[in-house]
Amino acid sequence: MKKILFIGDIVGQKGRQAVSFHLPALIKKYKTDFVIANGENATHGKGLIEHHYDALIAEGVDCITLGNHYDAKSEIRKYLDGANGLIRPYNLMNEYPGIGTMIFKDRDWSIRVTNLLGQAFMSEEVASPFDSLKKIIETEEQADIHIVDFHAEATGEKYALAHAFAGSISALIGTHTHVQTRDARILSGGTGYLSDVGMTGPYHGILGVKAENIIAKLWHQEKTVFTLDEQKEALFSAVLLQIDETTGHTIDITPIYLVEKL
Ligand SMILES: [Fe+2]
Ligand SMILES: [Fe+2]
Repeated sequence: MKKILFIGDIVGQKGRQAVSFHLPALIKKYKTDFVIANGENATHGKGLIEHHYDALIAEGVDCITLGNHYDAKSEIRKYLDGANGLIRPYNLMNEYPGIGTMIFKDRDWSIRVTNLLGQAFMSEEVASPFDSLKKIIETEEQADIHIVDFHAEATGEKYALAHAFAGSISALIGTHTHVQTRDARILSGGTGYLSDVGMTGPYHGILGVKAENIIAKLWHQEKTVFTLDEQKEALFSAVLLQIDETTGHTIDITPIYLVEKL
């Protein structure tokens, strides 16, 4: 049995602090075998610079996934190809460095992590996540465990992708909405599922951003600069998967939601 911890969108300094605070203890407590984290918001709320990538890997993250903000800090184009624990969305239409699915074999079992962007209510033009995942399963090297980070807005699209590939992947974990859903379950064929793992970042505000910024934009149509909420409370959202590496099936899926003053 392998224990995989999946951490939801890490937002800014508060999110990185929450990882530093909780991750070493969680790795010890659960004796985790592999840690995945979505890092698309880790640098000031959008994007991921190399220094922050290195810091998250040093904290114990094995694989960092991205999302629609993959290119928000352009320096990522310079280090992405050389970063062996970082993937960007697989189904981008544009030419872009890096890869969107990666196999980790440096242990006596193997794990593939895939990052896909959704099409519903998302502004990026991407290839079908369904066709993309089918292609990965049919053409890429098989691993004992396959985890998909589906970075998408609509729960319906997330369920559809998970059901379409139930039994063919170990788990599909949703990211992007920054709100943890309460629908963790195991689909037929042993595919673990959670619509959204939630956010790791400022607990107050709106999805990490100061509430007044968002209200000014949505209510008064003001052009506002989004600044991250600076109150002390930090949220750490994750999910712990227990997966049988001999079958690739999820045996248990348990969401984690911790709030701490940091
Ligand atoms: Fe996102
Ligand atoms: Fe995000």
